[in-house]
Amino acid sequence: MTEFNFDEVIDRRPSSSSKWTKFPDGILPFWVADMDIRAPEFMLDALKSRIDHGILGYTVTPPSLIDTAIAWLQRSYGWKVQAEWLVWIPGVVTGFNLAARTTINPGEGILIPKPVYYPFLDVPANVGGEAVLSDLILAGQQWVMDFDDLNTKAANARLFMLCNPQNPTGRVYTRPELEQVADLCLRHNLSIMSDEIHCPIILDPERKHIPIATLSPEIEAKSITLFSPTKAYNIPGLGCAVAVIPDLGIRQRFLKARAGLVPGISPMAYLACELAWADQSDWLPSLLQYIRGNEALVRATVGNRMTAVEGTYLAWIDVRDLRLNDTSAHFERHGLGLFIGEQFGGKGYIRFNFGCPRTTLDEGLRRLTAALQ
Ligand SMILES: Cc1ncc(COP(=O)(O)O)c(C=O)c1O
Repeated sequence: MTEFNFDEVIDRRPSSSSKWTKFPDGILPFWVADMDIRAPEFMLDALKSRIDHGILGYTVTPPSLIDTAIAWLQRSYGWKVQAEWLVWIPGVVTGFNLAARTTINPGEGILIPKPVYYPFLDVPANVGGEAVLSDLILAGQQWVMDFDDLNTKAANARLFMLCNPQNPTGRVYTRPELEQVADLCLRHNLSIMSDEIHCPIILDPERKHIPIATLSPEIEAKSITLFSPTKAYNIPGLGCAVAVIPDLGIRQRFLKARAGLVPGISPMAYLACELAWADQSDWLPSLLQYIRGNEALVRATVGNRMTAVEGTYLAWIDVRDLRLNDTSAHFERHGLGLFIGEQFGGKGYIRFNFGCPRTTLDEGLRRLTAALQ
């Protein structure tokens, strides 16, 4: 038995939660990627103590956070990064938009495997680039990149946007798969932006997260890798992320793109981020065990409509056979607030967030069963 009570149900509506205010009462939300699970007590206690200090002023990046981030990357992935490679930003979405501004010229192509976390798909228009999209393909019971297609399309691109662990399919790419991406980027001279925000949330014991930048010094030099502990520790409203940018030229352009536009990070966010990356307690392993149990329940409910989730707490569920005209409305009628696949570039699918207490999940799955009939 775990000492942590992930079964606790907390009413989030009074907190102006995005997740819980989007839909009217009566609809259970399983859409946006934050969990209905309390952050760890050690973190909440430290945040309370910080408030007791009484002054929440502008804050520089704490040197202890820089040391902690470097140690976390070394300990977790064997990646030895230099302090000057780290650029702090209030969010990963900010980071990948800055990455695109930094690495392409107007009109140049951005290669994006899809379906993918929907703000990826906005990036080309945001930065005046061309979207070059490639569909993931279902090979047996696994979503994989279509390397023939990617190789053809890479000639028209300057930047590859990777999401690993992959939102929404839940893939955690293997070393051979990442080697193919790295090889493609090097052969076609593409920079690579890798969003690795979900990397602490690995569910499949056979999988290990590998930052693509660690594959070789050559790919490291072409990379911008984005990390944040906000998903795993369920503090996404605080906002703190780091871009690891080994190449000096890319880093200088990134800093220039950030200048004057991107606000600083709050003292609470810096503190929570440092505590998360320093954490070696049982909290995260226990949470992952709980989330694995949730994943098994979702899969038992929807069967082969979904593939096993290797990482993240998101299920990508095939509802093409229902031939729905208005997918959102159908599931809302059954009391479910979901993300629909179109938004991610995957028509006919829904994305179901199972990062919640068991009782909430049970009710959601009861409604889902009815909606799928
Ligand atoms: C893959 C991915 N990247 C980025 C984000 C958002 O990151 P941030 O809140 O730091 O901008 C999310 C949130 O769902 C995500 O799933």
